[in-house]
Amino acid sequence: MADTDFTADPSRRAPYADALERHADGHPISLLVPGHGASADGISAGLAAFVGERPLQLDVTPLLDGIDLGAGSPRAQAEQLAAEAWGARRTWFLTNGSTQGNRTAAMAIGQLGGDILLQRSVHSSIVDGLVLSGMRPGFILPEIDYRNGAAHNVTPEAVREALATHDGDVKAVYIVSPSYFGAVADVPAIAEIVHAAGAALIVDGAWGPHFGFHPDLPESPLRQGADLSIMSTHKLTGSLTQSALLHLGDTALADTLEPVIERAFRMTSSTSESSLLIGSIDINRRDLQHGAEHIEASLAALSAFSERVREHGRFGLLVDTFDRFPSIVQSDPLRLPIDISSTGLDGHTVRIRLMREHNIWVEMATRTTIVPMVGLGKRPQLDPLLDALDRLADENAGSPGSIDDALRLPAPGALRMLPREAFLGDTELVSAAAAIGRISADSLAAYPPGIPNMLPGEEITAETVAFLQAIAHSAHGYVRGAIDAGLTRFRVVAQ
Ligand SMILES: Cc1ncc(COP(=O)(O)O)c(C=O)c1O
Repeated sequence: MADTDFTADPSRRAPYADALERHADGHPISLLVPGHGASADGISAGLAAFVGERPLQLDVTPLLDGIDLGAGSPRAQAEQLAAEAWGARRTWFLTNGSTQGNRTAAMAIGQLGGDILLQRSVHSSIVDGLVLSGMRPGFILPEIDYRNGAAHNVTPEAVREALATHDGDVKAVYIVSPSYFGAVADVPAIAEIVHAAGAALIVDGAWGPHFGFHPDLPESPLRQGADLSIMSTHKLTGSLTQSALLHLGDTALADTLEPVIERAFRMTSSTSESSLLIGSIDINRRDLQHGAEHIEASLAALSAFSERVREHGRFGLLVDTFDRFPSIVQSDPLRLPIDISSTGLDGHTVRIRLMREHNIWVEMATRTTIVPMVGLGKRPQLDPLLDALDRLADENAGSPGSIDDALRLPAPGALRMLPREAFLGDTELVSAAAAIGRISADSLAAYPPGIPNMLPGEEITAETVAFLQAIAHSAHGYVRGAIDAGLTRFRVVAQ
């Protein structure tokens, strides 16, 4: 797919990946790290048998002339091309996932002083960011589909209300879009409200790296007013696992944000970033921009499958319920959450049986739903999934599952201390009963839907303890961050 005429259309090149290939093809005598020495010789034979010799030749240390050293280096060119492709002013390649992007964003905003308002259904990495940066958080509740265990988006009205009622100087608002289930928020409307309040809008787009690369996909948040956005290209566009992007939007706040991001990026990135991961992002960007044929075919196949599920009539598509939630303005076609409650089994059991009995592996499940997902430009077989669901439903006919007893999320406890102080201060382990009324030192989130129920610094309430214990004792629920599986003890701030 590479074009040899760089001047005609630079986006057809992958400058960083091309530079790595040139370096490898020069067969250098490698007397530097990494220790495998770019060859299958000696002790590296086993590794080369495992991954092949080429990945070893492309796996080079950072700061090499002609690859990533200097202002106009191939790496700098590759990052500039990525910024243009996603509609950003500047892009940083990440080698520790959106996890790194979230921690970097928190460390960047933390340098501005003031508070941050976050959608409550965030990934744990931004909670880590609160601990690292010392920021004081406020929260905005997303809409929740209790029946299907899905946290959706925040509405513009909820953002406006949170900004109006928060008792501090808000420097940034942080939202997640799309959600795990492919629900897309009204980013332009939210950006307008956030900017009117003088704050920056951060969009955790970990699940939306493909947005903006086809007219049938939602737009890139960078073209909708986001000041920062984080994206896991490894999740849905096909770069190698752990590779991701942090983008700075071309907004009025960009001059303020760029230097603080640069400092934070240096703090969160390894001094030995993986050239394979970076090269995979560079190639991925090029192929997203010039892989229309594969993208079209993939989207057409997904749309045909959704239609087939609808015509089949036995299973529901979660996307067909999205119009009941004002926080959702679009959906991501790469996610296919299917309501399997008509099988008479819960989603976790269906997911496990699909793996064990049919060798079909889907991303995740809730009680009523399985969530298959497909990378952009890919066309995996989907018909066997429908056939397998039919077989499971036939076997279980007459024993419909109970789906009415969904647990309601408890209200978060009051924030009594900064997350950083609670996490880093003296702590002690106490029984669940003794924990009530104390300040949590940990972050705990029940899955599904994965909303942090307790953050460091928040008061532990009886309602939250009862909820977490009920989830922990349910057949397939689990609580991330728990000290023990039954939640008999909690880590609290020492008195
Ligand atoms: C919303 C969200 N943000 C960030 C992350 C972290 O992404 P990564 O696994 O690329 O570090 C995830 C991971 O699932 C996520 O769901």
